[in-house]
Amino acid sequence: MNTESDIEIRTATIDDLAAIFHLGEKVFTSQEFSNLYRTWDEYEVTHLFNSETEYVLVAEADGQVVGFAMGTIIEKARSAWSYGHLLWLGVDPDFARKQIGSLLFDRFREIMEETGIRMLMVDTQADNKPAIKFFQRKGFENPTKHVYMTLNLQKEG
Ligand SMILES: CC(C)(COP(=O)(O)OP(=O)(O)OC[C@H]1O[C@@H](n2cnc3c(N)ncnc32)[C@H](O)[C@@H]1OP(=O)(O)O)[C@@H](O)C(=O)NCCC(=O)NCCS
Repeated sequence: MNTESDIEIRTATIDDLAAIFHLGEKVFTSQEFSNLYRTWDEYEVTHLFNSETEYVLVAEADGQVVGFAMGTIIEKARSAWSYGHLLWLGVDPDFARKQIGSLLFDRFREIMEETGIRMLMVDTQADNKPAIKFFQRKGFENPTKHVYMTLNLQKEG
């Protein structure tokens, strides 16, 4: 059984990408964690690794990737604030509730603080209660519901 001290949190290397992708396939199951503007696919992993390598973290236990965190920075025009958006956080269900998500988040937060970020954001489905609980535990507040709507242009006219 792994304890917190057996878990290493580190930035990802190219050799981790396949493991991250496949773990994401396991964790972000099909439709559940996908919406109109965010879908788990190979491109998410390779693009973020390519563009924001320092914000792609993995948790490793006995040489196995058991969790990951990937984020980005959002600069707003005419605002002194920059935001850190934790886009994807996933932990292998076989390793759930061992504080791995927590360790990943803490490292992500530390990196953001070192970068001068003043506000962190996360988003998830309104019915993803475990994640909401997790983020509340980490100090996030003011959950706001967001409504997505679609207009089928094929049916118009
Ligand atoms: C959310 C997630 C990352 C948590 O990872 P984890 O390593 O199991 O979480 P931790 O062990 O660090 O949990 C820290 C605290 O969060 C809360 N928490 C975590 N999982 C929970 C669950 N299933 N139900 C209720 N509370 C939960 C608890 O307060 C927990 O502390 P405790 O175990 O001492 O009670 C993981 O469940 C996951 O990968 N979920 C699917 C993907 C997802 O929803 N990602 C977030 C949106 S991108």
